[in-house]
Amino acid sequence: MNADEVPQLPGMTEFAARAKARWRAIDSLLPDPVAGNDAGPGGQDAHCGANLAVGAGGNLEAFGTCRHIEPDPAGIDLSWGMARRFELAPRVVGPAPAAALDRLISLWRHHLADVPGSDEDDTAAVISWPSRDIEGVAALQRHGLRPLAVVAVRAARRAAEAATAAGGARGHGRQAGPVRVRQAGPHDVDAVIRFGTEVVRFDAHFSGTPERAGTAAALRHEAARLLGEQPWTWLAERDGKPVGVIATQQPAHATWIAPLTRLSPVAYTVLGYVTPDERSSGVGAALAAHLHATVDPAGVAATLLHYEQLNPYASPFWSRQGYRPLWTTWEARPARSLR
Ligand SMILES: CC(C)(COP(=O)(O)OP(=O)(O)OC[C@H]1O[C@@H](n2cnc3c(N)ncnc32)[C@H](O)[C@@H]1OP(=O)(O)O)[C@@H](O)C(=O)NCCC(=O)NCCS
Repeated sequence: MNADEVPQLPGMTEFAARAKARWRAIDSLLPDPVAGNDAGPGGQDAHCGANLAVGAGGNLEAFGTCRHIEPDPAGIDLSWGMARRFELAPRVVGPAPAAALDRLISLWRHHLADVPGSDEDDTAAVISWPSRDIEGVAALQRHGLRPLAVVAVRAARRAAEAATAAGGARGHGRQAGPVRVRQAGPHDVDAVIRFGTEVVRFDAHFSGTPERAGTAAALRHEAARLLGEQPWTWLAERDGKPVGVIATQQPAHATWIAPLTRLSPVAYTVLGYVTPDERSSGVGAALAAHLHATVDPAGVAATLLHYEQLNPYASPFWSRQGYRPLWTTWEARPARSLR
């Protein structure tokens, strides 16, 4: 079965309606849990498609489809995670969602135990779980999964309300000194690659992702795409020297991640970086302000980005800029270390 097809199990229609109601109650920015949303980021080259279910018929309590993913060795996605990913997108319903998730992950563990290579170093068992679905957290931990990355969202409408409530004040008021922020163009490709390389290295402290031979070439490709026509990429410069960047995919290029929220259209910030000597002086905030001053009038409803849960710079910074967790990615590495 194609991993994106809706399985026609008995009781699936009622289950899907209950799962949808549950997500709507948990977080108004989540999408409805239907086929297609299961794919999530990095959903290319998926195979397997094993359906796992807890309960049956009218008592279906949990459901998920396993997907085996091997990112393109030449693509940037490989720089952010393991080379073989076994992903499950669990859907659970009441009255005991935590217990249902627990049993679903146990089924998945048995499934993975029979998959050749799932014990190799460069593998991960991956579950993307709604960050605000706190009822599942204990079960995820019990199975040896660790929360590594977060997909954060900034809803334009919410940000506008917050700005009005704050009397129109933007940011935290500190000036970035003689640092100038300007829109980047194709000639800035080297600076964007350099900062992209720094972010990959920096994030490796928290993600544990091994260095990839193809990162430099993949970043060159990504940077060229980002810096095409009318790029949503800004550089901060001091005395003409780049000291920071923010780079965002416009909605036409962010369709791969758009299914993660019900808001539309969606933009996706690929890079946020400020050189160590310039941090904590408002440069990052100035870059984010330029981005938001562009995406909001352009009608972008939600801007998404990833950060590593353990990165001590990222979550407080993005939170100040109006972002909050939407999805948390839980991983067990190697995949067969799932308990
Ligand atoms: C995340 C990052 C881009 C933020 O850039 P930055 O220029 O340091 O951001 P800002 O200066 O606008 O804000 C960050 C800090 O300055 C503080 N700050 C800035 N202006 C302030 C003000 N007027 N009053 C109080 N605090 C202020 C912020 O509170 C924050 O806290 P800190 O001082 O304890 O560090 C930068 O830290 C970075 O590049 N980190 C490494 C790479 C990374 O983590 N990238 C993000 C991956 S998703």
